[in-house]
Amino acid sequence: PFEKQIDSILSLMTLEEKLGQLNLPSSGDITTGQAKSSNVAKMIEEGKVGGLFNIKTAEKIQEVQKIAVEKSRLGIPLLFGMDVIHGYKTTFPIPLGLSSSWDMEMIQQTARVAAQEASADGINWTFSPMVDISRDPRWGRVSEGNGEDPYLGSQIAAAMVKGYQGDDLTLENTILSCVKHFALYGAIEAGRDYNTVDMSRIRMFNEYFPPYKAAVDAGTRSAMASFNEVDGIPATGNRWLLTDLLRDKWGFDGFVVTDYTGIPEMIAHGMGDLQTVSALALKAGVDMDMVGEGFLGTLEKSLEEGKVSIDEIDLAVKRILQAKYELGLFKDPYKYCNVERAATEVYTQENRDFARKVGAESTVLLKNAGQVLPLKKEGTIALVGPLADNAVNMAGTWSVSTDQEKSIPFLEGLKEVAGDKAEIMYARGSNLSYDKEFETNATMFGKTIPRDGRTDKEMLDEAITVAKKADVIVAAIGESAEMSGESSSRTHIRIPQAQEDLLDAMLATGKPVVLVLFTGRPLVLVEEEAKVPAILNVWFPGSEAGLSIADVLFGDVNPSGKLTATFPRTEGQIPLFYNHKNTGRPLSNKEGNFEKFRSNYLDERIEPLYPFGYGLSYTTFEYSNFQISNTTLPMNGSITVSVDVKNTGDYDGKEVVQLYTRDLVGTVTRPVKELKGFQKVMIKKGTTKTVTFTLTAEDLKFYNYNLDFVAEPGEFEVFVGTNSDTEMKKSFTLK
Ligand code: IFM
Repeated sequence: PFEKQIDSILSLMTLEEKLGQLNLPSSGDITTGQAKSSNVAKMIEEGKVGGLFNIKTAEKIQEVQKIAVEKSRLGIPLLFGMDVIHGYKTTFPIPLGLSSSWDMEMIQQTARVAAQEASADGINWTFSPMVDISRDPRWGRVSEGNGEDPYLGSQIAAAMVKGYQGDDLTLENTILSCVKHFALYGAIEAGRDYNTVDMSRIRMFNEYFPPYKAAVDAGTRSAMASFNEVDGIPATGNRWLLTDLLRDKWGFDGFVVTDYTGIPEMIAHGMGDLQTVSALALKAGVDMDMVGEGFLGTLEKSLEEGKVSIDEIDLAVKRILQAKYELGLFKDPYKYCNVERAATEVYTQENRDFARKVGAESTVLLKNAGQVLPLKKEGTIALVGPLADNAVNMAGTWSVSTDQEKSIPFLEGLKEVAGDKAEIMYARGSNLSYDKEFETNATMFGKTIPRDGRTDKEMLDEAITVAKKADVIVAAIGESAEMSGESSSRTHIRIPQAQEDLLDAMLATGKPVVLVLFTGRPLVLVEEEAKVPAILNVWFPGSEAGLSIADVLFGDVNPSGKLTATFPRTEGQIPLFYNHKNTGRPLSNKEGNFEKFRSNYLDERIEPLYPFGYGLSYTTFEYSNFQISNTTLPMNGSITVSVDVKNTGDYDGKEVVQLYTRDLVGTVTRPVKELKGFQKVMIKKGTTKTVTFTLTAEDLKFYNYNLDFVAEPGEFEVFVGTNSDTEMKKSFTLK
């Protein structure tokens, strides 16, 4: 739509100004890495910058925008990006936690609030949503994604894009979204960050691509290339990925940005020198170079030597200008720099109340033997653990835009929600871990839990003394925020020993113990499951953490989250996911006992500790009357599947009713189960709801060997239930 305007600006631009539009330096305002450009203002003046990121506040952004508009020769406004990943100042749970809510409306609203706040404070572009499917909890960035399932991941991807961008990008409270990391970043080998990816195309298309495509279909205006290679070529230089697939097949017409220094990193990948890899990136379909300065520094030479064409450069420039037009920046470059909005629309009580709710809705109750939970608002509660009285860890990883020290610590929230009749006693009990070096590595971005000056024994003894006086013990333990996230891969995904010892000491008192688990990834919890009566996984709940957790512990909110990533029994099972293939030698016994020459382990069972879709409630649900409207599904017709869900317990509660299918025979092998639908329903105690799903051939489509998206006639099974382990099934035929 802006073709004329764009062409007329383009005709005025020098080559240097064109390359400037493709350059995205970091301002170094927020430390997310090694900020490179200290002379950014001068570069902007010279027209060598197209956008800037890591700069915060409406005032500062206005100042910088002013340089671009008033001092650069053509006055082209800048894009201002930021990693607004799970909220801006008001922070919501880490994405993996948020995904556990299975509540698309709520998830979309979190993105809406984030956009509202970020746009009020000068930001017009967020590097979110991150939609990388991952089946490897060793990878620290599982915390930033939506788990292991392509269907659920696609729904969340679309919800986030709609939340950020709304229907109209010219409004002052909508911002550009950026789907990332394109592509397959979550499949890095051994869960080691930035490592190699290698997978078949059929797996890419069926299991990893759907969420990216869903974000494109929802209209994301930008996409970020991933650090890893795809089919032997780094994503940043992969033309098949960034042009043939993304643009030509999926119809994406926004712009592509690299990840941080993605272009120069191709030198280490072994793709050539800076000039070569910069040309490779441009020709592959990259439009904007984040921090690398490969475009700015080398494309002129490549143009002279005929290694890139002016048309290729112009195309990238046009896409950046297009985004600026779409945002309305040419009309009003300062539209996001409204100091009044920044003062009144950011971190409001309304937004914080919403974050409190979202934090509670994202918790997952993993165990509740003997109904230890909910707690009564009376008697004495001992709160122990290194995460009990800490603000800066509560927002979790990738929360650069929030004031982390303002988050509500667990202890504060517990006291507030408990009221006057309950006494809360606190003792820290342990450091995060015994291993100081590990702890230093894990808190490099400053979200520390400062080590206590006392000895381990002194801390533990204090906790035991406090615990002995209590009726119930709550142990706030797990990972610190930066033990997951970027560059935070782990090989042992367990609770650190210092905290495990604290937990054991608490159990030894004989009092009931509730483990409130902070984590950015699935952990190995086999021992905890065996010894602790109640486990509530709260992830990292966000700015209102303490209140969110307390609301759930006291039963003001009944937990309803369901895991979106499998919790393994041991690290050796990884990758472990529910939608695996059957193999030619599946186990033949339902009990999971070892069988020689079958696909299993000598020393461990093959099933997980907690499967995908798992999560308990304070109430109980009973499934019955499972019906299918017809055992034949015509290619152009539909069938309905219904089930009655009765709340048989003592509390009103929400249940995520899940529907899975299995394609029994295909021209390629098919997963043993695939999520194809879910509904989150509130069911009052003692009442029953009938939940109905409609299935069509469209739901059964997959990419075949030729990568055509097809539904193949034949026998299917459909399952409904409370998690992916369900065995309630019926059969039908697609004809
Ligand atoms: O958006 C991020 C990305 O996820 C990881 N590298 C840095 C980028 C910008 O901060």
